[in-house]
Amino acid sequence: MIPLTDIALEPDLYREIKKNINKVIDSKNYILGHELEKFEKTFAKFIGAKEAVGVGSGTDALRLALRANGISAGDKVLTVSLTSPFTSVAIMEEGAIPVFCDVDEKTWTMDVHDSAVRIDKKVKAIMPVHIYGNPADMKTILKFAKTYKLAVIEDACQAHGAAIKGTKVGNFSDAAAFSFYPTKNLGGLGDGGMVTTNSRKVAKMIKMLRHGGQAKRFWHAYRGINSRLDEIQAAILSAKIKRLNKHNLLRTTIAKRYQRALGNLPLEFQDTVEGGVSVNHLFVIRTKQRPQLYTFLKSKNITTDVYYPTPVHEQPIFKKFAQSALPVTEKLSKELLALPIFPKLKTSHQEYVISMIHKFYDTHRKSI
Ligand SMILES: Cc1ncc(COP(=O)(O)O)c(C=O)c1O
Repeated sequence: MIPLTDIALEPDLYREIKKNINKVIDSKNYILGHELEKFEKTFAKFIGAKEAVGVGSGTDALRLALRANGISAGDKVLTVSLTSPFTSVAIMEEGAIPVFCDVDEKTWTMDVHDSAVRIDKKVKAIMPVHIYGNPADMKTILKFAKTYKLAVIEDACQAHGAAIKGTKVGNFSDAAAFSFYPTKNLGGLGDGGMVTTNSRKVAKMIKMLRHGGQAKRFWHAYRGINSRLDEIQAAILSAKIKRLNKHNLLRTTIAKRYQRALGNLPLEFQDTVEGGVSVNHLFVIRTKQRPQLYTFLKSKNITTDVYYPTPVHEQPIFKKFAQSALPVTEKLSKELLALPIFPKLKTSHQEYVISMIHKFYDTHRKSI
């Protein structure tokens, strides 16, 4: 079976990670130590941001980014519904209210025109998502946020290295959240997350908030949580980030090959904003024959998957926040299908996937 993704470690990376883990074990320093500081510096440099603060997960990164920017209970946060439900879990955990906006028909990221319809005095922040590794339209979002004096928090959990006109995502907002969930382009061997920001003040606050709100030893001045990226994960990620550019480029090659080879079929790809570069965390196609194509590919030993089958505003816990239908999101959630993509995907396997998709459309052409 060709998998959707494969997180097995290459032998040299496996060896380096084991060495790094052993070093941490021997150091007897497991929380808030040298490895975390080192990785935070490396990650900030990779993104091009002034500061990076390691936390326990992408969800906590979003939570603390909101909290450090003054978002609290009862505030509304504009976001999208075509995303991982964890985007809204973070908003809800802060006692804030997600206001779901529709997405653009071409880029599948936040449609600011739809956000404008939903603005009211309680809206304090906007949280676009760089979904599947593809940057949201930050130029338009920042202009909109300035008009309404909104804090901007990027959900960059799927977009390590994505950029717009040479500036990496994670730099466009008051604070941005990244996830190191194992399947991400930069994934740990467990949970982990990072906040990036260009504000020293926000970074300082997040450092306190992730550590129980401690302003100094045994002195809790802020309402914090306990969410720190631990030394072992930081040491693992320090080894993995060295390969991130290479892995992102391999993903790009795979994505371009899909686009070239499938371009003449009746399906669509995700568009990128002007000057935008996706890191193809997922390679997703839009097809009117999703269930049939899914079943056909499965019968040919090819794994595909749906991200996400139920939009967030239709989930039991989030339904109460939905203001109205989101026609584009709802349509897309029935038509999107993720194809296998990961750095080690063999060209011969990808060619097999491509040929099977062609076969499917040849067989179904009459009914399309
Ligand atoms: C878009 C998005 N937001 C938030 C999250 C939450 O990240 P984590 O699983 O690290 O808490 C994820 C990851 O699953 C994600 O893909």
